[in-house]
Amino acid sequence: MKAAFAIAAAAAATLVGATPTNIQARSSGTSSGSLPVVTVKGNAFFAGDERFYIRGVDYQPGGSSDTADPIANVANCKRDVAEFKKLGINTVRVYTIDNTANHDECMSMLADAGIYLALDVNTPKYSIRRDQPAQSYNPTYLQSLFATIDEFQKYDNTLLFFSGNEVINADNNTDCAPYIKAVTRDMKAYINSRNYRKIPVGYSAADVESNRYELADYLNCGPDYMRSDFFAFNDYSWCDPSSMSISGWDQKVQKFSNYSIPLFLSEYGCNTNKRTFGAVAAIYGSQMTPVYSGGLVYEYVNEANNYGLVTVDGSQLTELPDFSALMKAYQGTQNPSGDGGYKSSGQVSTCPTESETWQVKDFTNMDLPAMPSGAQQYMKNGAGTGPGLTGSGSQEAGGQSTTTATPGSGSSSSDSSNSSTSASAGAASSVHMGEMSMAPLVCAGIVTFFTLVGTTLL
Ligand SMILES: *[C@@H]1O[C@H](CO)[C@@H](O)[C@H](O)[C@H]1NC(C)=O
Ligand SMILES: *[C@@H]1O[C@H](CO)[C@@H](O)[C@H](O)[C@H]1NC(C)=O
Ligand SMILES: *[C@@H]1O[C@H](CO)[C@@H](O)[C@H](O)[C@H]1NC(C)=O
Repeated sequence: MKAAFAIAAAAAATLVGATPTNIQARSSGTSSGSLPVVTVKGNAFFAGDERFYIRGVDYQPGGSSDTADPIANVANCKRDVAEFKKLGINTVRVYTIDNTANHDECMSMLADAGIYLALDVNTPKYSIRRDQPAQSYNPTYLQSLFATIDEFQKYDNTLLFFSGNEVINADNNTDCAPYIKAVTRDMKAYINSRNYRKIPVGYSAADVESNRYELADYLNCGPDYMRSDFFAFNDYSWCDPSSMSISGWDQKVQKFSNYSIPLFLSEYGCNTNKRTFGAVAAIYGSQMTPVYSGGLVYEYVNEANNYGLVTVDGSQLTELPDFSALMKAYQGTQNPSGDGGYKSSGQVSTCPTESETWQVKDFTNMDLPAMPSGAQQYMKNGAGTGPGLTGSGSQEAGGQSTTTATPGSGSSSSDSSNSSTSASAGAASSVHMGEMSMAPLVCAGIVTFFTLVGTTLL
């Protein structure tokens, strides 16, 4: 279960049950009924002047077998928002959206319920392949990400973007890290060049202890333009009944104590034993809040791995026992008063050096691949219409980056990246949403896909 696959396999919904009183974001107030935008200060999130703790659930009904956009379906969204309100959550994480769909209604229902969106910008067909990161980092890929940013930057309740999800799931694919960081850099540059508000961009890491801290440091080293705005990781090590010391979370707090950007759990909720969600009291307790900014329970709608809080059958929704367990945990857990002991400033991390667990050879220290030259046009002109979920995919599209970025920018001064890729088609060429067995090869942004993969590998 330490491995990402196993964890994903177990993913079931967890609902975060913040009571409405815990949703302090709303009280900060803002114009026209919308929520205050969330910003990063030091190692914390703030909604207006109030510390913002993520109390959320992972929300991808249909899971791996049916990659549908949950926030483009107004009827289901309405049904689910009512449940979210019962739980008292303030955030949902969505793993896949269709960047050609309209999201106004659902985003507005979420906002009315005091709920923000944490969004993965990758889709199964538009994502970095962990076995061929260089080839899949290309203009066609970035165009899809940028189109997704265009679509969601207009909502005040867009909380943050995940630039990648579980791309690295073992020490031997840590060589994907420079690509993850380059994508994060490019997304930040795009937001900047389009004059959008500073929506935080960061990464969601698999539950892999061996390289957890090296990855966290790597994504937070170097100048601001290339650093993540936050770091999130999945953690299934708190299995009820547990404690800070039994789960080892006390050690993680210690090891991350100097981390200078917001940190939170992008998935948690071990289901080995009967779930009472004792982790909730810990996450929002005074031992963790100086270092952590909340978390997202895996997951809302039940799948084969039994992590769900509710089952959905057609339009019929049924709450499972875990739903009320989580609701109770949230109702019994207030946020700490004041600022929760956050650090308003800290030192950026030192880039890790090559090791047994950090096998990054091609790009050292702060070196990163240059943004593929074919993507420069989007910075100036905007991304245009995205490919949605039915596009032909980016992983074999060509035009990959072939150079190292010059310091101080994402660009290369002599980027000759207009060559089309000659990488072998092979397994990669047949990565489609329905073909989950290919997923181990994909640095995909979709947790639900890994769920299925996990099942396969197990
Ligand atoms: C990478 O490491 C994992 C275990 O950490 C192992 O299962 C896998 O076979 C390795 N892959 C390669 C290509 O060596
Ligand atoms: C955090 O920073 C302090 C002061 O620089 C240092 O003494 C301490 O060892 C650091 N802790 C960790 C876990 O790196
Ligand atoms: C690649 O770029 C070079 C230099 O800009 C140009 O001369 C060449 O025609 C381009 N090749 C392709 C296939 O676009």
